[in-house]
Amino acid sequence: MDYTLEFENIKTKASEEISKANDLSSLINIKNKYLSKKGEVSLMMNHIKEVSDKKAFGEIYNKTRKEIESLINEKIKVEEEKKLNEELKKERIDITLPGNNYVRGIANPFYQTINEIEDIFRGMGYSVEHGPEVDYDKYVFELLNIPHDHPARDMQDTLYINDNLLLRSHTSSVQAHVMEKAKGKPIKIICPGKTYRRDDDDMTHSHQFAQVEGLVIDKNINLGNLKATLELFAKKMFSKDTKVRFRSSYFPFTEPSVEVDISCFNCKGKGCPICKNTGWIEILGAGMVHPNVLKMSGYDPEVYSGFAFGIGIERVTMLKYGINDIRKFYQNDLRFIKEFKKVKED
Ligand code: PHE
Repeated sequence: MDYTLEFENIKTKASEEISKANDLSSLINIKNKYLSKKGEVSLMMNHIKEVSDKKAFGEIYNKTRKEIESLINEKIKVEEEKKLNEELKKERIDITLPGNNYVRGIANPFYQTINEIEDIFRGMGYSVEHGPEVDYDKYVFELLNIPHDHPARDMQDTLYINDNLLLRSHTSSVQAHVMEKAKGKPIKIICPGKTYRRDDDDMTHSHQFAQVEGLVIDKNINLGNLKATLELFAKKMFSKDTKVRFRSSYFPFTEPSVEVDISCFNCKGKGCPICKNTGWIEILGAGMVHPNVLKMSGYDPEVYSGFAFGIGIERVTMLKYGINDIRKFYQNDLRFIKEFKKVKED
């Protein structure tokens, strides 16, 4: 048997098959057919015992193997590239196609107002705090100078969970939490949040509403600081020429207490339906932190003083945008919310 010829034949047969193959799996089959342990080339090794020049046989064996292997590998490379190109062609992205249109959401005007108020007060160096909506009597009332038998409890119709736990009826509860945490250090915070009262809902009342509480405690804080702060707030929130007026009032946790009016931004004080012809609009309650409140939370009222205010979010928003029904904030009617798209983009 002429082994050289035999190897030559195997190689010719293999290369014919390789050149005919046009996909990866048939190439792998060919590789197995010739080069695997029981492949045609490998089986030739069985003849080595019959040849005298084993070295020459070995050389030709290895050469044939290598040649077939490199033919197959080259073809595999070509096929792989072909396959990749086909896939890339299939996956090509047509960047000229029109994109999907996403509907952009709009923040409820209620949240737009909260963001605006936060921005204004951050600009004055306040930080924003939050407190629990379900809270203990201690924080909502007692630490704010409203003990159990205090008649002022009747000022707010509170929703109780049990004797001790309730839905906060004002954000002033956060004052007590913040003072407790501050441990006698100065404070300058606002706290926006939801509040709840037992109320029959109508155009101007809602059992759920929201406030922004403000609290400043430091040495030498006086009523003038409160007025200047609220004046700046009103000018930024409504219009540059807004004036602020204090009317004496009563809250158990502030002394003196004030009801704060702003000059009507609509008629500039001349009188119109918004201000009910008075030229003034009431927007918030405020006052100097009561010495008892300071004392209960560990501040010496002889050294520290402070002011606090509580702004009604819905009221401010209703005034600013001429909304006539507080319930609209909570009905999630998209037609209502969409009207405020423009407000946000301005
Ligand atoms: N908590 C008061 C209310 O809900 C508002 C207020 C806050 C008054 C802070 C004075 C100081 O009506």
